[in-house]
Amino acid sequence: MAAGSLRGEIRLPSDKSIGHRALLFNAMASGSAEVSLSRPGADVLSTLEALRLLGAVEAVEERYGSVLVTLRGAGGPGAAQLPAGGGERIECGNSGTTMRLLCGALAGRPGVSPIELFGDVSLSSRPMERVAGPLRAMGAEVVTTDGHAPLRVFGRRPLRRMHHDLRVASAQVLGAITVAALTADGTTTIDTPAETRDHTERLLAWLGAPVRREGTRTTIEGPAGMQARSLTVPGDLSSAAAWLVAAALHPDAELRLPGVSLNPTRMAIVDVLREMGADIRVVSGDTSRESAGAPSSASPEPFGDLIVRSATSLRPISLRGHLVASLIDELPLIAVAMAGANGVSELRDAAELRVKESDRIAQVVRHLVAMGVDAEELPDGWRLTGGRRSRPVPLAVATGGDHRIGIAFAVAALSGSSGEATIDQPACVDVSYPGFWDDLESISGPVRASAGAGAVR
Ligand code: S3P
Repeated sequence: MAAGSLRGEIRLPSDKSIGHRALLFNAMASGSAEVSLSRPGADVLSTLEALRLLGAVEAVEERYGSVLVTLRGAGGPGAAQLPAGGGERIECGNSGTTMRLLCGALAGRPGVSPIELFGDVSLSSRPMERVAGPLRAMGAEVVTTDGHAPLRVFGRRPLRRMHHDLRVASAQVLGAITVAALTADGTTTIDTPAETRDHTERLLAWLGAPVRREGTRTTIEGPAGMQARSLTVPGDLSSAAAWLVAAALHPDAELRLPGVSLNPTRMAIVDVLREMGADIRVVSGDTSRESAGAPSSASPEPFGDLIVRSATSLRPISLRGHLVASLIDELPLIAVAMAGANGVSELRDAAELRVKESDRIAQVVRHLVAMGVDAEELPDGWRLTGGRRSRPVPLAVATGGDHRIGIAFAVAALSGSSGEATIDQPACVDVSYPGFWDDLESISGPVRASAGAGAVR
């Protein structure tokens, strides 16, 4: 049974993508800075732990409900550099961003011995040659295990300047090469097949590095240093998407989400849900969405509040092409919205979903079918017929430990698209959204979520 109503305000955990980069790039800069994170997820904590091992973390304190990390970078004015601390064996947990960005940062750091990067079972099955290959071409020694983690990185300096033409639109791969190129002997250019999130370029430029993004091309003038700078990481729009979809689908909902990142390269989720008929208002904070291109002195990232109310009805949608890369983390939630929209919806050009924390195409379709939705897998997406079902079917969700799957199908139950749902491994949501079950309870009145059982009734 769905919640009677969804009302209230949710302050989201800090953005995962920005959090990784705020920590890592300050650890490569010169000087020290404080990074303020609200409820950092397990992935960002993997990056923090790696930097602690490398010797870049001076202090971690809890202040006013946030985690304040003081970093001291090992870079000089003309050269970015990670400290050469102990860590010869680094655990990246479930975090692809930690492993790939760190691989790039270590590629340009000469050391006396190689550093090994490990991941959990899911991360160890994800493709790493897409990062290792370009870094090797630049002169670093990067050894994969049959194309996967564990990785062994032996940095060189300077790396070779070169042009990269990437076959996948991946912000993690682009980010890894970009940080490596800070230590190259000249100008590096990187072309991607579609625009990806631009947090790497924004933050590096804000710290003073000669890095710029023009459309699908990133240019880095190496060798370059940067100056450490303190910042507060805004709320995560990909986590906010859970409540945008839940409220859009629910007949009696009004939610306010303050302090969310409104980076234009991440806003496609708001645009797509609005196109489907969702009622979402964007109230800009200190940097408006329209003027979001230029970094401000206080923050390289625009942020503001989102207000979402029940939609009268949702329309089906067809998503394909370059847009898909900018929605990549929200696609399981979009599938739940599609299931509540009257008619045939389709997703194409999203084969990357098969190499995320789990095969998200197979997972999404399996759970939609279990909900009674007429849905089929396509090689690069799915096709489904959405609409209200007369009798919502109870759902047992085997998440495979994938946080986005757990969250998406909890939202299906909360909004009444499925019957009661039991989510296995409920703690998997902590990867991006610690406190998800508490937030769910705080807005859903009589609905009970139990983190132990992961049930949404
Ligand atoms: C991320 C990029 C995305 C996304 C991931 C975070 C990043 O992956 O799925 O959750 O912070 O760079 P891609 O490498 O597919 O862009």
